[in-house]
Amino acid sequence: MSDPATFDQRQRYTALMDVVRNRMTTRQFDENYVVPREHYELILEAARHAPSGANAQPWHYIVITKPELKKAIADYFVEEQHVRAKLKMKFPTPNYHGLETAPGLIVVASDFRWTRAFPVLMDGSELDRKYHENAERILLQSVAASTMSAHLAAAALGYNSWWVTAIGQEHAQNTLKPLLGVPADLAIIDIFCFGPAAKPPYKRWKKELAQIVSWDRFDMNNYLTLAQIDEWVREKRSQAMYRDESKVD
Ligand SMILES: Cc1cc2nc3c(=O)[nH]c(=O)nc-3n(C[C@H](O)[C@H](O)[C@H](O)COP(=O)(O)O)c2cc1C
Repeated sequence: MSDPATFDQRQRYTALMDVVRNRMTTRQFDENYVVPREHYELILEAARHAPSGANAQPWHYIVITKPELKKAIADYFVEEQHVRAKLKMKFPTPNYHGLETAPGLIVVASDFRWTRAFPVLMDGSELDRKYHENAERILLQSVAASTMSAHLAAAALGYNSWWVTAIGQEHAQNTLKPLLGVPADLAIIDIFCFGPAAKPPYKRWKKELAQIVSWDRFDMNNYLTLAQIDEWVREKRSQAMYRDESKVD
């Protein structure tokens, strides 16, 4: 039988948690900093080891080094921000000009044809459609697992990072893919920025452990009604996104 002591390597856990806890989003970077090439490789090496459905590893990372490309990407997001404002979406949108200032900017792409590697029927039936829907979730979770490893590696190197996903729309794909020579079969999933923060980053509010964990059976104390979720969106979302946790009421 395995010895539980083998699974209690507290020092390694503490070192990992130091990185996990101090991974903090920043949306404005020290734009004069130049990321050494080795750091891109160290960060993406972490991405490479991520788990994925069927071990398909359905991710691709495009490192953007040219300032004019960073600007073009930032311009797209700023424009999208205007579109959302006009639509009165009421989402507390950040200043996407910050993308231009990111010393490290990596575009995360995926190829949805990899859904074939997951449990699907491939017979065009309604049941197949449902399995395909599930397969897309498997694919997106896989890409997120790899992207998260990269974010943590950046944090381990002392950088702050920014995960940008305002990108699902066809317009984003049509604008950004040609700019970067991404083949039509692939999709851009998100943008990963990192570097030294321009201002001291702050720790955002996180739920308590008891709020996110149940043991053996879902704890209904943590069930929220739709009205409660709507209230959170209305009253708390913007603080959760943009405020230091010690200043959230
Ligand atoms: C899947 C995902 C999508 C996100 N999309 C955006 C985005 O489009 N724009 C943005 O400014 N921040 C985005 N973020 C960053 C979150 O706003 C941020 O992680 C959150 O407020 C918690 O702050 P923290 O990262 O400092 O813990 C995203 C984060 C994740 C994980």
